[in-house]
Amino acid sequence: MTEFKPLVFSGVQPTGNLHLGNYLGAIRKFVALQENNDCIYCVVDMHALTAQLVHEDMPTQIRSITAAFLAAGIDPKKHIVFNQSQVPQHAELAWIFNCVARIGWMNRMTQFKDKAGKDREQASLGLYAYPSLMAADILVYRATHVPVGDDQKQHLELARDIAMKFNLDFHDKIVPTGLGIDIKVGEEPVHAYFPMVEPLIDGPAPRVMSLKDGTKKMSKSDPSDLSRINLMDDQEAISKKIRKAKTDPDALPSETEGLKGRPEADNLVGIFAALADKSKTDVLSEFGGQQFSVFKPALIDLAVEVLAPINAEMRRLMEDPGHIDAVLRDGGERARSRAEKTMNEVRDIIGFVR
Ligand code: TRP
Repeated sequence: MTEFKPLVFSGVQPTGNLHLGNYLGAIRKFVALQENNDCIYCVVDMHALTAQLVHEDMPTQIRSITAAFLAAGIDPKKHIVFNQSQVPQHAELAWIFNCVARIGWMNRMTQFKDKAGKDREQASLGLYAYPSLMAADILVYRATHVPVGDDQKQHLELARDIAMKFNLDFHDKIVPTGLGIDIKVGEEPVHAYFPMVEPLIDGPAPRVMSLKDGTKKMSKSDPSDLSRINLMDDQEAISKKIRKAKTDPDALPSETEGLKGRPEADNLVGIFAALADKSKTDVLSEFGGQQFSVFKPALIDLAVEVLAPINAEMRRLMEDPGHIDAVLRDGGERARSRAEKTMNEVRDIIGFVR
């Protein structure tokens, strides 16, 4: 049984400022994965149109996600960094996937239901088709592994369903051309053109919660800027936000058990642990019994130590948009040539004349 060559793909939308949750939950994982994998990281600008067509400053948003990737340590020469709209093959494959996916599948997507809200008639057709474009992003490279947050798991399951239906529906065209690979799906051997993508979910990365409410996720859409640490925040802003973060009156416990029912304490300890690359248990063995008046200054020092260099590098990169654009163009070119190879095969499998 052969296997698809492992390839990591992930995407980040250029909407709103990146915050600590995006960094710890996604970008830092992207950086770590480069070590042992071939990786493609994409600024998904076409996805950004699905909720809102007109954006205040689309070019700056695209460049700032790219700057964050580079500042965090993603190497755009060894891997590929680009913005989605430079590779029109994503949209082309998405059209084919729109014809593979069933309306019943799309209707089950919880993110669509949440984002469309009550007035579904007024949601864009793009928002509805969002997961199909996401499947195309990944599968146009026949990528096998996708680091994402928990909230994207359902979209990856849909990508597998799409891949599987394509593989089965075109089985008669795939096998004779020798384009597919024998893979195992559960116990079943299947001849597949598209791989069954695997999510790479969480691992040690914490769910980073709001600094103002430990039961809500840190979010770029929270009206209070004090609820989050943005990657573009300077030292002063970072320390002010941590100083003002909500806590409870008790000292920190010595065991993680003691964090139960204390969401704000749990969140700050989790952030400390993630930034220090330690477990919460380690953090509590150091700070158990201490008041927040001791813990917060230590957290501020650590957050500044980790984030300030990223922040400074992002600012430096943002001063030279021409350089960022050149990185995206170069990545776009390399991505396009890989995507076009897939599309030629897909066109042949479907029977389009070329
Ligand atoms: N939907 C993803 C998110 O909101 C972004 C995304 C688009 C993506 N295409 C992707 C993530 C492909 C992983 C792979 O986080």
